[in-house]
Amino acid sequence: MKITYLGHSCFSFQLKGKDIIVDPFISGNPLAKDIDPDQIPADYILITHGHEDHILDAERILKRTDATVISSFEIVSWFNEKGYKGHPMNTGGSYDFEFGNVRTTHAVHSSVLPDGSYGANPMGFVLQNDEHCFYISGDTALTMDMKLIPRVCPPLDFAILPIGDNFTMGYKDIPIAVEFLKCNRIIGCHFDTFDVIKIDREKVTEFFNKNGIDGKILDVGESVEM
Ligand code: NI
Ligand code: MN
Repeated sequence: MKITYLGHSCFSFQLKGKDIIVDPFISGNPLAKDIDPDQIPADYILITHGHEDHILDAERILKRTDATVISSFEIVSWFNEKGYKGHPMNTGGSYDFEFGNVRTTHAVHSSVLPDGSYGANPMGFVLQNDEHCFYISGDTALTMDMKLIPRVCPPLDFAILPIGDNFTMGYKDIPIAVEFLKCNRIIGCHFDTFDVIKIDREKVTEFFNKNGIDGKILDVGESVEM
């Protein structure tokens, strides 16, 4: 499965022929200036929480693609009111979509929508079908709840976790997350976009290597086979 990093916490990939985007924040991210949000195909947009750095381009993409939003009940209702379609969920629930099952997970963070509307509890997602199983944590602290994931889901192929610190867990938390998740293939996100989350790639790579972690720090626009 090819997964493409579109900057910050935004990723795109295909499952069972369906184009899925996570947390679209492109036009507001100078590091993603070479990505055109009007060219990204989307059947589904997964949104972890209401913060602008996860939602900014969702409406623009929805307008063009008629994609379905998958998020919390409150965030989906916010998009419904604007005339877009969505599938509402809440933390801990799972649902079988045409591309596979989505299970929402607890994230320790906050969430408010850009216009001040209540953004509900932030969440992460485990996506699984007969070919893949992976975890997208969303913005979160390192949390004990990560221990539940290998108990309730098949073994993870990989996990997308924040590494930028300050607003979320940082790269130094990854070894513990890896232990909790029983998965050491990690793709980092939520780094470099703002001054306070800038990382030293060399230092982080060295830290991952020293701890036996297969940690990928992708360039914006880069794709990896996972
Ligand atoms: Ni956030
Ligand atoms: Mn964020």
